Amino acid sequence: MKALMSLEDYLAGWARNGEVRAAAKTVLSLAGAGTEISGLIARGPLAGSMSAVVGRHGDGDSQKELDRITNDLIIEALKGAPVALIASEELEAPLATGADDAPLCVAIDPLDGSSNIDTNVSVGTIFSILPLREDTGREDEAHFFQPGTRQLAAGYIIYGPQTSMVLSVGAGTHIFTLDPADRKYKLTAANLQVPADTREFAINASNYRHWDTGIRQYIDSCLEGAQGARKKNFNTRWIGSMVAECHRILIRGGIYLYPGDAREGYRQGRLRLIYEGNPVAFLMEQAGGAATTGQMRILDVEPTAIHQRIPLIFGSTGEVAIAESHCGLGENSADRSPLFAQRGLFRP
Ligand code: F6P
Repeated sequence: MKALMSLEDYLAGWARNGEVRAAAKTVLSLAGAGTEISGLIARGPLAGSMSAVVGRHGDGDSQKELDRITNDLIIEALKGAPVALIASEELEAPLATGADDAPLCVAIDPLDGSSNIDTNVSVGTIFSILPLREDTGREDEAHFFQPGTRQLAAGYIIYGPQTSMVLSVGAGTHIFTLDPADRKYKLTAANLQVPADTREFAINASNYRHWDTGIRQYIDSCLEGAQGARKKNFNTRWIGSMVAECHRILIRGGIYLYPGDAREGYRQGRLRLIYEGNPVAFLMEQAGGAATTGQMRILDVEPTAIHQRIPLIFGSTGEVAIAESHCGLGENSADRSPLFAQRGLFRP
C-alpha cells in the first residue's frame, strides 16, 4: 500500500505565515489529545463509569464523567499550543491560558453525543480555531464573537469504529484516520464532496409537535415519498451524535436538522453556534455542502454569547435549499400557542 500523507506533513504544507503556523500547531495538539481520548473511549467500561453524572451546565444539561475528563485533557493539550483563550461547552466562561503573544482562541465541544457513551456509538470532539481580534483585551470573551467565516481551521475528531480527524483549514475538507499501529493520523480521504441531492434526512421526529409549521411541512413532504410532491422515497437516520450524522453526510450526503421549536429553552434549537454550528458549517461548505439557520448562512451569523444556541440545518446543498424554502412559512415557535394545534402526518 502506498504511504499515506501524515497530518503533520499536510499541515506543514499549509502553514506558511505566523497565525496559520500557530493554527497548525494547535490542530496537532488537539490531535494528540484526541489520541488519548480515543484510547479511553475504546476501553469503555474497563476504564470506569464514564457516564456517571458529575455536574450540570448552566442550562440544566447533565455533565458526565467523560465530559469532564475530555475537557481536562483538551485544555491541558491546548496549554502547550499558541492559544490565549479557550471556550468550552464544559466551562461557564472562557479560560485565559496566560500564554503571552499567543495569537489564537479555540472553541471546543470536548465530547459531542455524550448521551451515547454507554451504548458504544460514535461520539466526537469538535473544535473551531479563530484568530484573536485586534480591537479588545487578550482575555475578553468577545474574541469568540466573530462570524464562522473567520475560522482559520475547524473540524472534529470522531471516536467510532475508527478514530478520525475531519479537518478543514479553508482548503477543502479532509479525513485523517488514526492508525493504531503507530498512533499517527493519515490522510485517507482528501477533498470530500457532499452529493448535492439526497434521499436521507436526520431529525429527532419525537419533537414533531413542537416544530414550526414550515419544518413540519418539509418533513411531511419527505414522508409522503414517491406519492407526494417530492416524487421520491426518503430514509431517516437519527443517531443522537451530531458528529456521527455529520460524518455520514460528508461521506454520502443527507440532511441534518435541529430547528428551533416551541419547547422552553429550544426556541433557538439545541446546538451551540460557536463550538458546534460554526465548525460543522465550515466543514460542510468546504466539502461543497451547505449550512443554514433556515433564514441565513450559519457562517455569517455574528455570535453574541459563548453558549448561544442556533437552529441548525446542514448537508446536501439541494436538500438544504428545499428545507430552507419551507422555513419561516406559517406559524413559528415564537408565536405558536397552544403547542399541539397543528395537523400533520404524525398527528391526526
Ligand atoms: O447536544 C448536541 C447533541 O447531543 C447532538 O450531538 C445531537 O445531534 C443532538 O444533541 C441530540 O439531541 P436530542 O437528544 O434532542 O435528540
